[in-house]
Amino acid sequence: MKVINSSKEFDLISFDSPVAFVPTMGNLHEGHLTLVRYAKKNYSDVITSIFINPLQFGKNEDFSSYPKTLTHDIKLLENLDCDYLFLPEDNFAENLISIKPKFADVLCGISRPIHFQGVLTIIDKFIKVIKPDVCLFGLKDYQQQLIIKDYVNTKKIRTKIISLPTVREKSGLAMSSRNNYLSPSERKHCGKIFACIENLSKDLRESKTLSTVESLKTKGLIHLKKNDFEIDYLEILDADDLSFVTKKTMNFLIAVAVKYRKVRLIDNIVVSL
Ligand code: PAF
Repeated sequence: MKVINSSKEFDLISFDSPVAFVPTMGNLHEGHLTLVRYAKKNYSDVITSIFINPLQFGKNEDFSSYPKTLTHDIKLLENLDCDYLFLPEDNFAENLISIKPKFADVLCGISRPIHFQGVLTIIDKFIKVIKPDVCLFGLKDYQQQLIIKDYVNTKKIRTKIISLPTVREKSGLAMSSRNNYLSPSERKHCGKIFACIENLSKDLRESKTLSTVESLKTKGLIHLKKNDFEIDYLEILDADDLSFVTKKTMNFLIAVAVKYRKVRLIDNIVVSL
């Protein structure tokens, strides 16, 4: 695996196309590795980046304490035969014009007001530097991938955005670097987050009516609170544009964000009726 340490190097390398790009903030887990494996299988050259993007963290968030495990991450990527690892220069996120995202005023955008602007601004920079044919994301961050897809489509950027299913721990807990802040027994307990939205998705499939949406939310909230989760949100929205569900809604997004022992965890399920 070749390590690229500066954006300028991209002009000097002739990549084998199609090129796949997997952006990460490091502390790699099965969720990331699944994206890299998929990329290796389907594209000629695979570039993974590791960059903890300061633009997407709020003032009281975990930017400075975000886990850094570069040596281990490199081993994992080498094991998968990833072709390139891009470790951007320190000033990579400096002097960028902020890009205002669509779909950012709901769900995580409420409690993390600058988050998606920071994500979109850095992804736009990555795409301009790397010019990949495809860029891969996990569906755990449903809102993130929707925002990026919308941006790329609106701006007619030729990079295709591909989203792959959420990878889960045995308990059902969605894989996330933040799971490392929890003990094994806490992680097991947090499997209840997925169990909760899975239950709601079954109810929604069975009832197939709009009127049940509010009562399902209430049921989910009671269940989560009972299990010591501090609720940020539990929402059921139109999965296509994050608007309120209507009679016309075909794809429902059940999305949740909670804190458990101060660790913020998100998850979602899409139900297509
Ligand atoms: O999902 C993440 O890890 C980050 O938001 C991303 C896409 C790497 C941008 O910094």
